Amino acid sequence: MRVDLLAGTLYQAGTVPPMKQHPIVLVFDSGLGGLTVFREAVKARPDAQFIYAADDAAFPYGRFDEASLVIRILSVMERLITRFAPDLVVVACNTASTIALPALRARFSVPFVGTVPAVKPAAEHSQSRLISVLGTPGTVKREYTAALIREFAADCEVTLVGAPHLAALAEAALRGDDVADAAFAAEIAPCFVETDGRRTDVVTLSCTHYPLVRDRLERLAPWPVTWIDPAPAIARRMASLIAAPVTDRAGPAGLAVFTGGQMAESGLGPVMTDFGLAQIEIDPLPLH
Ligand code: DGL
Repeated sequence: MRVDLLAGTLYQAGTVPPMKQHPIVLVFDSGLGGLTVFREAVKARPDAQFIYAADDAAFPYGRFDEASLVIRILSVMERLITRFAPDLVVVACNTASTIALPALRARFSVPFVGTVPAVKPAAEHSQSRLISVLGTPGTVKREYTAALIREFAADCEVTLVGAPHLAALAEAALRGDDVADAAFAAEIAPCFVETDGRRTDVVTLSCTHYPLVRDRLERLAPWPVTWIDPAPAIARRMASLIAAPVTDRAGPAGLAVFTGGQMAESGLGPVMTDFGLAQIEIDPLPLH
């Protein structure tokens, strides 16, 4: 017997469930950054039923060693997949995708769409051949990121910037805290390189939190650059991997699930509602 938890429907073993009106898409991040992917995903497939899951009990992921992070992500995903039976999972987190995608694909049969540094579009766009990858300390250390650079940006000088506090600052700003410009400026400063009369002209936003404060980063940049946010491309990929829409009707209102609760309890209600997530739930999964 298969239980469709969201639709509250039971199917007998061996019977084929009816074509889903609203495919279930799970969007996953360590915190609120995945909302920048979530909003594009909703635009791309308004017919889908979205669950937004934030592993805030373990935020920020950027500080974890690789082995512990993979174990953590597998255990959170086990819980979410068992509970929601999604048709597709978007890992809206570079720090998670660059290390855990192979393990996730090996463990679960549901398709995963990952979020990884947009090195290829950055190299395609750069005139000066000086590009910067702005991510968490975890993402910029990964072999996955190094391989992308070898494959797609071999003729560029790539500066890897692991910003220690930028994801947390972006969350604070989203909550409405008064975060000083100087704090943001210090995090992005190493992205801006000048050498031999050339300047960095492209910066990849390789943490899904950063587009939350993109206007501010643009304002504080020492000179104008192109900022690359991969969210629209991820949303297109997601949309292409689930069955074509069978209805014009929008999917049911989205649900946000937090593993910790601190974020959900810190006055985020109106922010989540703005993103179309009126329902917030805490499903505790403490970090041991
Ligand atoms: N949003 C996550 C990413 O894209 C990272 C934030 C964290 O350190 O948890 O990498």
